[in-house]
Amino acid sequence: MASKGGTVSTEEVLSKAPLFSALDREGAAALRTSVTIVELPKGRTLFSENETGDRLYVVLEGKIKLSRAAPDGRENLLSVLGPGEMFGELSLFDPRPRTASAIALTDVRLAGLGHDDLRPWLTGRPEVALHLLRALAQRLRRTNDVLADLVFTDVPGRVAKQLLDLADRFGQKTDDGIRVHHDLTQEELAQLVGASRETVNKALADFAQRGWLRIEAKAVVIMDWERLYNRSR
Ligand code: CMP
Repeated sequence: MASKGGTVSTEEVLSKAPLFSALDREGAAALRTSVTIVELPKGRTLFSENETGDRLYVVLEGKIKLSRAAPDGRENLLSVLGPGEMFGELSLFDPRPRTASAIALTDVRLAGLGHDDLRPWLTGRPEVALHLLRALAQRLRRTNDVLADLVFTDVPGRVAKQLLDLADRFGQKTDDGIRVHHDLTQEELAQLVGASRETVNKALADFAQRGWLRIEAKAVVIMDWERLYNRSR
């Protein structure tokens, strides 16, 4: 499944990823030589929680879900990542097993970089380390927000927040609103919100009934951003 390769769009996406955006043209080209392209069909697991990991990845096309499983089999989605977003770096900074499983939510193309190939860049080019630290800090901020919401915000508020976050990253303007093709099943959306499917569906149906959004297959169209935003506060 893996091959060395590159297309124009690969370069475009990579140049915006935290690792590469820190570098000048020459540096980015040099780091690019260590990149391996990986393609996965929808539903395939790239790696599993608790496995040993030696690569980080940047999403080039498609979406990846990061998930953790409880001993009783229930799942929690930590995040859904799209083009330009990075994952698999925790086991670089802290060489221990993978903290989550990475599964293709759609057909995906990824750029993989071996931790060993990357380490000399972290020590030799401080700007690369700083960009990666910033990406980690952003993730910690987001995780703190999610944690606070789990404690302080009700399920409809959390659903509204997740939809707005997905819209920021995957939304497309259409005539009747922002179309968010999240590619998640109802069960996966519930796992992302951290609530039961029934409660999440009830919240979605209520938003739809109020005319704030329309529900489509693995997508929503947000028609009243302001009211949804106010509900997420
Ligand atoms: P790693 O532990 O190597 O493999 C799983 C990856 O999931 C991890 O690196 C991070 O890149 C990513 N990850 C872990 N926790 C979170 C989180 N809370 N939000 C987003 N991504 C995460």
